[in-house]
Amino acid sequence: MKTKGVGCLLLLIGVPLILATLVFAFSEFQLRRVYAIPLTELSIPADELSLARGKFLVEAIGACGECHGGYLLNGNRNFLHEPLIGVVPAANLTAGKGGIGTIYTAADWERAIRHGVGRDGRALMGVSSGALQHLSDADVGAMVAYLQTIAPFDNELPPRQIGPLARPFLFFAFILPEEENDIMPAVKINHAAPHLADVEPGVTVEYGRYLVNLTCVECHKVDLGGGANPGEGMNITTGGNLGGWTEAEFIHALKSGITPEGNSLNDSEMPQARLRHLSEDELKAIWLYVQSVPPVTMEK
Ligand code: HEC
Ligand code: HEC
Repeated sequence: MKTKGVGCLLLLIGVPLILATLVFAFSEFQLRRVYAIPLTELSIPADELSLARGKFLVEAIGACGECHGGYLLNGNRNFLHEPLIGVVPAANLTAGKGGIGTIYTAADWERAIRHGVGRDGRALMGVSSGALQHLSDADVGAMVAYLQTIAPFDNELPPRQIGPLARPFLFFAFILPEEENDIMPAVKINHAAPHLADVEPGVTVEYGRYLVNLTCVECHKVDLGGGANPGEGMNITTGGNLGGWTEAEFIHALKSGITPEGNSLNDSEMPQARLRHLSEDELKAIWLYVQSVPPVTMEK
């Protein structure tokens, strides 16, 4: 009887202790793991056209300012500021005091943008490399060229600190499928995958696919069928409302935020501020690609 009681007590304390140790060990492994990324020799252009392309990609596609302190890109101390979960500032991207602009080489920028890995080789948290891994070499080069021209701005930020409540999330980052995990994109990116050298902008299915993979799939999912969770987009295949839309209606919906059914797209969810930078030709290319994907008709 007595030994049974002691056994139960040991189980009661022991099992949670073992689980907590496991979660801690796995999350610590994720935080400390150093990624060896094959070096990409990028050529950094200096012509006006490439700089304009870089600005467009930084503002509309990478949307770097949404997290890094707005159009100044001078960092955001409060990106995540919950002591129990963690303190994760979004870096000052300029060459001012506390900024990374003077330290980062072109290769460092490439790793941060496409691989979600910082200068020290460790996985960055909360970055959007899950989508940006699909950027072409030439486009990353244009982005770096533009980023190197932004005005220096002094803003010193505290170092990243991970709180105890973040640990289970980091543990799940390790075991959940890619779709569900955007905490540390580096965990799931195939770092050896080849990249496109360049893409030809134009009203083509290929350019449409390129733009969609860099932006829309983040919420509308890879099959464009959307998801059931809040913030995940609707079904934008021809199996949904878009089956009844014309190209002109699609372009109007994206530019005005009003769909042919008269719904107004919620700006806090469907990122109009960012997507209004897309040109008419780019929207036409996206429309072509949307027409080419298999319609999703299933309710999610
Ligand atoms: C969804 C929010 C988000 C977006 C969008 C985003 N970032 Fe970040 N970025 C972060 C956060 C948060 C960190 C800090 C991560 C950490 O410390 O683990 C970070 C870190 C970085 C770092 C590493 C800085 C260092 O201290 O070494 C670089 C470089 C960077 N981002 C560049 C960019 C660029 C360029 C873009 C646009 C193409 C961009 N980010 C878009 C959230 C974002
Ligand atoms: C940050 C998440 C996010 C991104 C990125 C995003 N969307 Fe959306 N989208 C949504 C959400 C959420 C809705 C539903 C909005 C609502 O009901 O107010 C939506 C709705 C739509 C609709 C309306 C569908 C309908 O049946 O009425 C279209 C069309 C659309 N998105 C196209 C796109 C395209 C094209 C892209 C890429 C260029 C894109 N979205 C990028 C989240 C996103």
